Amino acid sequence: IPVNPFDLVLFGATGDLAQRKILPGLYHRFEVGQMPEDACIIGSARSDMDSDAFRDQIRASMAEFAPEFKKDVLDRFLDRVSYVSVDASGDAGWSDLAKALRPDVVRAFYLSVGPSLFSGIAHRLNEHGLATPDSRIVVEKPFGHDLASAKALNEGLRACFKEHQIYRIDHYLGKETVQNLMALRFANSLFEPLWNSTHIDHVQITVAETVSVEGRGSYYDQSGAMRDMVQNHLVQLLCLTAMEPPSKFAPNAVRDEKVKVIEALDPVEPKDIARGQYRAEHGQGGYVDHVGNPASRTESFIALKVHLGNWRWAGVPFYLRTGKRLRARESEIAVFFRDPPHTIFPNVGPLHGNVLVIRLQPDEGIILRTTIKDPGPGGFRLSDVALDMSFADALGVEASAPDAYERLVMDVIRGDQTLFMRGDEAEAAWAWVDPIIQGWEDRGDRPARYDQGSSGPEEALMLMHRDGRRWRQIG
Ligand code: BG6
Repeated sequence: IPVNPFDLVLFGATGDLAQRKILPGLYHRFEVGQMPEDACIIGSARSDMDSDAFRDQIRASMAEFAPEFKKDVLDRFLDRVSYVSVDASGDAGWSDLAKALRPDVVRAFYLSVGPSLFSGIAHRLNEHGLATPDSRIVVEKPFGHDLASAKALNEGLRACFKEHQIYRIDHYLGKETVQNLMALRFANSLFEPLWNSTHIDHVQITVAETVSVEGRGSYYDQSGAMRDMVQNHLVQLLCLTAMEPPSKFAPNAVRDEKVKVIEALDPVEPKDIARGQYRAEHGQGGYVDHVGNPASRTESFIALKVHLGNWRWAGVPFYLRTGKRLRARESEIAVFFRDPPHTIFPNVGPLHGNVLVIRLQPDEGIILRTTIKDPGPGGFRLSDVALDMSFADALGVEASAPDAYERLVMDVIRGDQTLFMRGDEAEAAWAWVDPIIQGWEDRGDRPARYDQGSSGPEEALMLMHRDGRRWRQIG
């Protein structure tokens, strides 16, 4: 469905995220006809260049990051693109930007810049009369470094924009398979009656990466896996897995339920945390080399055992883990159901509970591990098999398309905040994360070392073994 005409101002337009994800994403929406022909994209950054030079930069980025583009469509798309040089922290350029905007179309200001610039840009948009009551402002993560800084960011944005105008991106919410989690839970009657502590033994949420800090070492070393991934992406996955059914699929109905999950998170005990840092090996630099900080105690891996203090999930551990330079790139949510209460097959070994695996990326799909009779005449034996549904096979489409950013930017134009974090949600997540980080800093904990290409440190395995459970294998 095409969206209404809009002017989108992209601050940080020459930056990596804009060139790699946001602009190619907008191109794709244009190619499929969702972006109206009279939409305008105004790139903005401090560099002094003209619109032609900016268009050339986009052409080069498309060749690198989205080489399947159609040349004639790209030409038409670039006709909609211009550039205005603006000093985000000074006064230069703002009146030129004002002149580039049209009066009667949706306005979106996308801040693909560091959080230290959020409040200043919001303030100048207001001061120079660029923001209208219907304008939207979009901000990227990291949304703060801790609760205090997140509150300050919220205050800075809310001084100029109303909450319904503020779009805080967590790109995981734009992933098709993450949205599918809500469809799976709330559009089927099969799972929801079992979705509680009576039937579920535990849940494992894994976001494993093979990449490392990819040129963002100075940011990452100040953050670590807890701030970079858990506070936002993993908490969001946890919310969608654990939340109560919202009364409707509408922004505040969904976000109200997510906030309740975050607020129900119990503090995490030190023994339920395993932090790791990948080591140097075989001539390959380790984490400390990649961030250029030999004394770093920042974690590139973390595993946590987490409890929700609420009726539905009492006593059900949620095990979260994420890390860099692991064996495979693999994100999934695995829901382990309890073993059957009684076996009528006493001589066939232990029965295993069912496992529902929602594969988020890659090989997007759903797997349900079930127990069946081993076919054949050799007595009554049981084995585990997987009912395996891959989105690519079942639907004939790549489930990862469209890219998360494409979906989210179009939602901004539509004015749909369902897949964006509300301010109180971001704060609640920090309120849970802060004492955990404070705890290991006060104790002076060092992360354990792990091999590159492994599943993380031994400590993460132990965290599970102690409970008589095992992680699902990565890769
Ligand atoms: C980002 C993190 O938010 O998500 C990165 O800052 C991480 O460190 C990335 O690599 C992972 O995203 P995806 O979409 O590749 O799973």
